[in-house]
Amino acid sequence: MSTVSETSFDSLLRENRVFPPNAEFAARAHIKTREQYDAMYRRSIEQPEEFWADAARELDWFEPWTKVLEWEQPWAKWFVGGKLNLSHNCVDRHVQGSRAQKPAIIWEGEPGEVRTLTFAELLTEVQLAASMLKEAGVQKGDRVAIYMGMCPELAIALLACARIGAVHNVIFGGFAAHALVDRINDSGCVAVLTQDGGYRRGGEVKLKPIVDEALKSCPTIRTVIVHRRTGSEVAMTPGRDFWWHELTAKASPNCLAESMDAEDPLFILYTSGTTGKPKGLVHTTGGYAVGTYLTSKYVFDLQEDDVYFCTADIGWITGHSYVVYGPLQNGATVLMYEGAPNWPEPDRFWQIIDRHKVTIFYTAPTAIRAFIKWGDEWVRKYSLASLRLLGTVGEPINPEAWMWFHREIGHERCPIADTWWQTETGGHMIAPIPGAIAAKPGSATVPFFGVDAAVVTKEGEPVPDGHGGLLIIRKPWPSMARTIYGNPERYVAAYWSEIPGAYFTGDGARRDADGYFWLMGRVDDVINVSGHRLGTAEIESALVAHPAVAEAAVVGRPDDLKGQAISAFVTLEEHVTATDDLKQELRKWVAKEIGALARPDDLRFTQTLPKTRSGKIMRRLLRELATTGEVKGDTTTLEDFTVIAKLREQDE
Ligand code: WT7
Repeated sequence: MSTVSETSFDSLLRENRVFPPNAEFAARAHIKTREQYDAMYRRSIEQPEEFWADAARELDWFEPWTKVLEWEQPWAKWFVGGKLNLSHNCVDRHVQGSRAQKPAIIWEGEPGEVRTLTFAELLTEVQLAASMLKEAGVQKGDRVAIYMGMCPELAIALLACARIGAVHNVIFGGFAAHALVDRINDSGCVAVLTQDGGYRRGGEVKLKPIVDEALKSCPTIRTVIVHRRTGSEVAMTPGRDFWWHELTAKASPNCLAESMDAEDPLFILYTSGTTGKPKGLVHTTGGYAVGTYLTSKYVFDLQEDDVYFCTADIGWITGHSYVVYGPLQNGATVLMYEGAPNWPEPDRFWQIIDRHKVTIFYTAPTAIRAFIKWGDEWVRKYSLASLRLLGTVGEPINPEAWMWFHREIGHERCPIADTWWQTETGGHMIAPIPGAIAAKPGSATVPFFGVDAAVVTKEGEPVPDGHGGLLIIRKPWPSMARTIYGNPERYVAAYWSEIPGAYFTGDGARRDADGYFWLMGRVDDVINVSGHRLGTAEIESALVAHPAVAEAAVVGRPDDLKGQAISAFVTLEEHVTATDDLKQELRKWVAKEIGALARPDDLRFTQTLPKTRSGKIMRRLLRELATTGEVKGDTTTLEDFTVIAKLREQDE
């Protein structure tokens, strides 16, 4: 590969260091050279059906497909007519093979207990939970909400749903009751799987009481099953609420994996878009299985003796694809941790890596920036010699954080896979194959197999290398979301209308002369706080729901630790007085309505918001004000020029 070839970029990431793959790593990797990647990539683009059929044949199918792809943009069907079960591929396949006694899940609770489940034990647990669901009346195609913490039962819950063909809808345990109500009602869930509470920073995060509050407004829920984790007192509604351990104690130990059509839905996962209402993305069985299987195999280079630790919560897509489905389909040992990275002290992850001899560690840039802040002494207490590969996801990684990760955690030995992808894409899209692709700090590098990525203008015209534009994907891929639940029109409008003939990612990017992609953040009203995606409109609707608020505008501004921080501008109702107490109350209100991660970092009261003559809030100006404290950008379309001065006054 050519070495330093960039000369003219307009991005902040002025980075020209290149880190070739470690030779020792490459020698035992699945893909060992750039040439091998190039040949495989070329085939995956020129003969996608042959390429993906070969990948799919590495999994178990109950009935073969008749056609690999049926594509009528934007509607894709992969492995048409094929029948399989993802729970079978994650668990039974390994028990029938040679992995029955291999640890599937090693779990560490925050208080310190460790539980290991072999694939054989996992199969037992998954069958019991699947029988429990069936016996509770859950049927194939029914939607099941899952609101749990990071414990083995959460992974078991997903696999049990997949086993019987129920569609899981996991709701992150940090979300508030209101968010649960929206997600449960939008998808018409019939049951909720939850737990009494979980441990976080030494305290208990209660989950069941939040479910109880939400269910006052969820008419479709018939059954609640509660996993006992902390043992704290919870209210149980007779006839509706049951204990997981009581149901599984009498459930049938055998539950055959349902034969699912490749295009049967596997799960719905809600994510933020540009309107107030989160989108329920639908992922189907066959394509998602093959996509997460193959990306895990190659991007994490999974080998038989790996112990793989992904720090994401299963409540996000990263946890679905790369805690549960991807690594388990590969028969890998997955390490799951329940709690906070800094409990009881800021060395918890390094202690876990040392204790369990973790070989692959996948985390988020925001976490890395926190580790840097906490200090190297926490890292240096432990041996990290077992590590052989590192990964990041969720937001662009700043080169300084990359270098620290490389030096302090990777000991300049471990390749780093910066993986760009989205809830919508199901699996990695742009990411290095670590034995074959040289890394450049801050770049997610090159497209995965079958991914036809390009950078274009708003009109869809190609942008020359080295210049910024919009990131699009020009060909369908197996793990792509198929639709938005109950709203196919919104799916078409959000992803397939912006740029003719392509999937629009919502991200800005630049490709360099080596074909490497540099992600530049969202170009829409989605913000990324600590790798978590939030819609500004969602936070605005929460604010406006407060009786004191007349109007609200929310923007993201750069933050050293979180990537982006949330700035809110609020106008109050006539009779209401602006006070500091009210500010605090409104910040708390948002946390209560959506969840702590949506709490505005700063909130200012203003008499008016800057709007265009057609009444659109000019967020660009608010972003500038929140970031720099000034507005220098073009204000000619402002309806009222005095607004900016008034906004600034409020700041003093
Ligand atoms: C958005 C998707 C995919 C799992 C985590 C987030 C940003 C994600 C990267 C990366 C630069 C990234 C993008 C994307 N993003 N990974 N490696 N480099 N940006 O999933 O909540 O669906 O968010 O996260 O902006 O569009 P998500």
